[in-house]
Amino acid sequence: MTLDKVTNISDLQRIARRRVPRMFYDYADSGAWTESTYRDNSDAFSRIKLRQRVARKIDNRSVATTMVGQDVSMPVALAPVGMTGMQHPDGEIHAARAAEKFGVPFTLSTMSICSIEEVAKATSKPFWFQLYVMRDRGFAADLIARAKAAGCSALVLTLDLQILAQRNKDVKNGLSAPPKPTLANMINLAFKPTWCLGMLQTRNRTFGNIAGHVKGVEDMSSLSDWTNSQFDPTLDWESVEWIKKHWDGPLILKGVNDVEDAKIAAGAGADAIIVSNHGGRQLDGAAASIDMLAPIVDAVGDKIEVHLDSGIRSGMDIFKAVALGAKSTFIGRAFIYGLGAAGEAGVTKALQMLRKELDITMALAGETNIANVGHHNLLVPPATARKVQQAKAESAATTTKKSAGAKPKTATKPKSAAKPRAAAAKSASAPKRQTPAKRPAATRSKSAAKS
Ligand SMILES: Cc1cc2nc3c(=O)[nH]c(=O)nc-3n(C[C@H](O)[C@H](O)[C@H](O)COP(=O)(O)O)c2cc1C
Repeated sequence: MTLDKVTNISDLQRIARRRVPRMFYDYADSGAWTESTYRDNSDAFSRIKLRQRVARKIDNRSVATTMVGQDVSMPVALAPVGMTGMQHPDGEIHAARAAEKFGVPFTLSTMSICSIEEVAKATSKPFWFQLYVMRDRGFAADLIARAKAAGCSALVLTLDLQILAQRNKDVKNGLSAPPKPTLANMINLAFKPTWCLGMLQTRNRTFGNIAGHVKGVEDMSSLSDWTNSQFDPTLDWESVEWIKKHWDGPLILKGVNDVEDAKIAAGAGADAIIVSNHGGRQLDGAAASIDMLAPIVDAVGDKIEVHLDSGIRSGMDIFKAVALGAKSTFIGRAFIYGLGAAGEAGVTKALQMLRKELDITMALAGETNIANVGHHNLLVPPATARKVQQAKAESAATTTKKSAGAKPKTATKPKSAAKPRAAAAKSASAPKRQTPAKRPAATRSKSAAKS
């Protein structure tokens, strides 16, 4: 199937399965242990039903919004995905370029193949950096400093991977980067000529942020030992404080899937949380994150921006997340399948399809601005009544009254005269990245040394 015949994310997934070496395709398309949470992440979205509204003047629509004060063309960011550069040669660079052109944030994983500096060199707008905290706090501080020097405009701190859950396929496949030259791998690679050719043309074949930056870690075998022993099981809220001080910029806490944790996170001085179960890759049996969204927004939505990931495969899913109170969403596999299928063009295709689906869903639900989407768009709104949602419902009612001259029925009766979020949100442009020439000399020489 060619890209012009692709109509949805599942099509991209099918192409990616054919083109990407088995161990890396399986690495993406898997969850922890029985994969029950992985499956439920998608199933939970299907259970949510929308209200179909008609005759509501749905021209001039906008899905643009902001995430931690930065303008985005739709409520989507690319989630951090380890080993993206194994789905497609130089995958992080391809995905970052697609995101940049589309006007959505790209988040580079600590466990990326292309390094922070490589991605900075290949892009012109700030991207975001995701931090895994290792026992070696000196190394964590160094990563933060490198992200700053590269002009990253937000730090995503992942809290749900202090230890790695088991994904059975990875164990069976002997996952490594680059793949080990076993008979099974060689046979599989023989059927992936485009991938092999691309890999031969790049030097980025192992963990770029780590290899060469940690003493004694130059190749993958010692690196995997190092990683296994270095993820920090003692990470706690005090550590978050420590990171916040070092970073001193927009901070997003990723992996909150519980109301109590959300309350603590909101008090930790971060700018946003991502309600996430890591795409079903960590605690098997955890709730689908979309099922945890409404109670978490109810508890902390007036204190901190709440984003959501895990299970998003369509614009309809994004709409549902926003209707349940998410300011924005992150996508993992939805863009990874596009990348595996066709590099930058595949990621762009994924983003285009998601935006089209989101826009048309919004229109058919009777809305013209993503900022006004809320509980009133759901057939069965969550039991919790909330200030933010009431404000949205009121705003939607006012807009319709003005345009149609009649009062529409909304699910929630607005009580307050609070401003809609769109109007209240201060739309700050993303900070400009320092040009390489303006970057500190130390960083310039480091990246030059790597190139
Ligand atoms: C292959 C793969 C690798 C991932 N690597 C990371 C990572 O390095 N850091 C991180 O914080 N999350 C990582 N995640 C989790 C994603 O950031 C995100 O939470 C998840 O993919 C969302 O679920 P979705 O794939 O259903 O959209 C990874 C996810 C996948 C699928």
